[in-house]
Amino acid sequence: MAKKINVQVSLDLIEPQDWSEMEKELISRAKAAAERAHAPYSNFLVGASVLLENGAIFEGNNQENVSFPVGVCAERSLLSFVVGNFPNVRPLKLAIAAKKREGASYAFVTPCGSCRQTINEYEIMFGKPIEILMLHENGSILRASSIKELLPFSFDSF
Ligand code: THU
Repeated sequence: MAKKINVQVSLDLIEPQDWSEMEKELISRAKAAAERAHAPYSNFLVGASVLLENGAIFEGNNQENVSFPVGVCAERSLLSFVVGNFPNVRPLKLAIAAKKREGASYAFVTPCGSCRQTINEYEIMFGKPIEILMLHENGSILRASSIKELLPFSFDSF
């Protein structure tokens, strides 16, 4: 008989009054980046910000294409930029905020499968976890201490 394997993940839900100053800054920078998204096809604006270990913060957003599959998510466009330019500076925290273009409130987004695998790649590369802050539509932050909480069965060896 097959043996059941249960995997437990653990995330934090943080109410706005409990956000740290850095969490406020990163979410606000991700929201600002979402406003600059190039998303004329989905009209779904996604912004991301990342804190590097040297204190620098960078922003990115989704960049779509008329040939739909060519588009790139906010998380991947941002991480490709920062790691490509600062390969020796570890990313510590990644924040994500998303909304429909005409939406009144923010939409809850967790990174897609490709972005999870990309974040996993940089955790392997730097040998340390990257915290992920996801703005929830109810105004809280869902916080994962590592991509392992979102991608327990990552592909990481061949
Ligand atoms: N998108 C992101 O940028 N990040 C995510 O985590 C989910 C989806 C983008 C891709 C596409 O431009 C739009 O959102 C709709 O799927």
